[in-house]
Amino acid sequence: MQTFEFPTKIVHGPGTLAGLVDELRGLGVRRPLLVTDKGLVTAGVVAEVTNQLRKYGLDYVLFDDVVPNPPIALVDQGTAVYREADCDGLIGLGGGSPMDATKAIGVTAVQGGSIRAYEWADPNPICKRIPPTIAVPTTAGTGSEVTLWSVITDHERKIKYNVGGTPLIGAHVALIDPQLTLALPPSITAGTGMDALAHAIECYTMAYAQPFTDAVALLAMEYVSRYLRIAYAQGHNQEARTKMSMAAALGGMAYGVASAGAAHAMSQTAGGVRDVPHGAITARLLGPVMEYNFIAEPHRFARVAQALGEDIRGLSIWDAAERAVTAVYRLTADVGIPTMQALGFSEDEIPLLAELAANDPQTIGNPRDIDYQGYVKVYQRAFDLGK
Ligand SMILES: [Fe+2]
Repeated sequence: MQTFEFPTKIVHGPGTLAGLVDELRGLGVRRPLLVTDKGLVTAGVVAEVTNQLRKYGLDYVLFDDVVPNPPIALVDQGTAVYREADCDGLIGLGGGSPMDATKAIGVTAVQGGSIRAYEWADPNPICKRIPPTIAVPTTAGTGSEVTLWSVITDHERKIKYNVGGTPLIGAHVALIDPQLTLALPPSITAGTGMDALAHAIECYTMAYAQPFTDAVALLAMEYVSRYLRIAYAQGHNQEARTKMSMAAALGGMAYGVASAGAAHAMSQTAGGVRDVPHGAITARLLGPVMEYNFIAEPHRFARVAQALGEDIRGLSIWDAAERAVTAVYRLTADVGIPTMQALGFSEDEIPLLAELAANDPQTIGNPRDIDYQGYVKVYQRAFDLGK
């Protein structure tokens, strides 16, 4: 038995940010906690939001302490602010980290305790809907605006863990304004865009694939293959940015309902070891993981190749499937994804990284059986590519 449940209203298009207050009012929110990071304050994006809130006389409380790969303490601190300030809703403004932090704050705001206690498990510790929440992405990649997950870093255990897996944690509204992504630097565009691609490919080829996620995942792949290079090379290209924003949300709809596979098992655990951008490390691992996986699901990988614009006519199923791998390697190179070494990892860490990945729950969804040895092999390949 499978289900596809989606609790989020998607409001999208260039200039959509102007509708934020209407959406807050629609949800009955009078005193939102605006969760974001200092970088967006400096860039003036937060002011765009707060000016609008002030203009319409809406009271708000600013929590701009979110850091990349938000840790447990940060979420707990945000929840304390939410409660002390007597807020009645949330706005998550930013990339994956602020949006994930927002959803996690929502969980503890209604259920109490520390976010440490809400790691996904069966039965799920989440049993109440988060307060009215609007997610406003400023990157195009994570898809957190529509996912049913929040990824939290546990420094003690040196891992990132997943909170969610239930519609109770989904944002009420995703306000997707591609104009907010126009000024993103090429490296962020590249990493986040490849993350969206990884969500789509991992979900499409995974053990729990289902028609509803397949459909959105395939279009996400198509958009990334057609528009990521353009968005990377020409940041202000509105069409490319809009399509990448859609790709991120589509990838998130696939990833958000199901889960991912080995690339995310590896990138999330590696992200717990070293504070690297999630998009860049996921992108760096996606090719090697696909190279390992494609023989398990050749027909699905052949379809991925097609979605990535490869001409597979006349090829054997094996050659067609392998084209998906080479297409991703080419894209990874074209958008300048850093090597494992440049990201600060060393080959000595392979045993640790492989062990952490093998223990990550996303390993189960991977299309090809993979264990510690398999992860060692994939990591070795990823490091070799950087030599
Ligand atoms: Fe991701």
